Amino acid sequence: MEIFIDSADIKEIKEAAAMGAIDGVTTNPSLIAKTGRKFEEVLKDIVEIVDGPISAETIALDCAGIVKEGQTLAKIHKNIVVKVPLITEGLKAIKELTKQGIKTNCTLCFSANQALLAAKAGATYISPFVGRLDDISQTGMDLIEELRQIYDNYNFSTKILVASIRNPIHFKESALIGADVATVPFSVIQQLAKHTLTDIGLKKFLEDWEKVPK
Ligand code: E4P
Repeated sequence: MEIFIDSADIKEIKEAAAMGAIDGVTTNPSLIAKTGRKFEEVLKDIVEIVDGPISAETIALDCAGIVKEGQTLAKIHKNIVVKVPLITEGLKAIKELTKQGIKTNCTLCFSANQALLAAKAGATYISPFVGRLDDISQTGMDLIEELRQIYDNYNFSTKILVASIRNPIHFKESALIGADVATVPFSVIQQLAKHTLTDIGLKKFLEDWEKVPK
């Protein structure tokens, strides 16, 4: 499973990239807004840090507008993947962008039927939001299982990119189900590396090392 970082914070992206685990980056308008910086400037910084797919989201709500924004974003760098919302106009735009050879990430997916349509439209990635489903008392990970089965049934090449990951359990279950990618906030990436027994074991080793004659 590939690991993307779900962040627009340059410090976080640099730190996670240094760990060697990051294959790509996803951003969204809320994450960009948090930086207080211009969208294009943030993207230009990110592409310098991570050499992999970088999702950048469109804002328009009509097909022509989404395609135009997508073309502009794609020109920034070869690794930019145009993130398009899963609405009817978005599906039309994905079909057009795909025809033009531009990679897309179909975002805000909450059902298997939506994901099936995104794959038919030719989306490079589908982003099902597991945490937001959990928030409304539906089990987000059930959707990932459904998508894996449906995409495999029909050999769709669209990659399942698990989004809205809130904890290490979402991450592990994504890998067990066979998701293609998990996009993970920095706080969760940090949790993935940690284990209480590692900390206790390290403390004991260092204490015992003090007893070794020097
Ligand atoms: C994915 O591409 C989104 O940016 C993100 O995962 C949404 O996560 P949230 O539901 O925690 O905001």
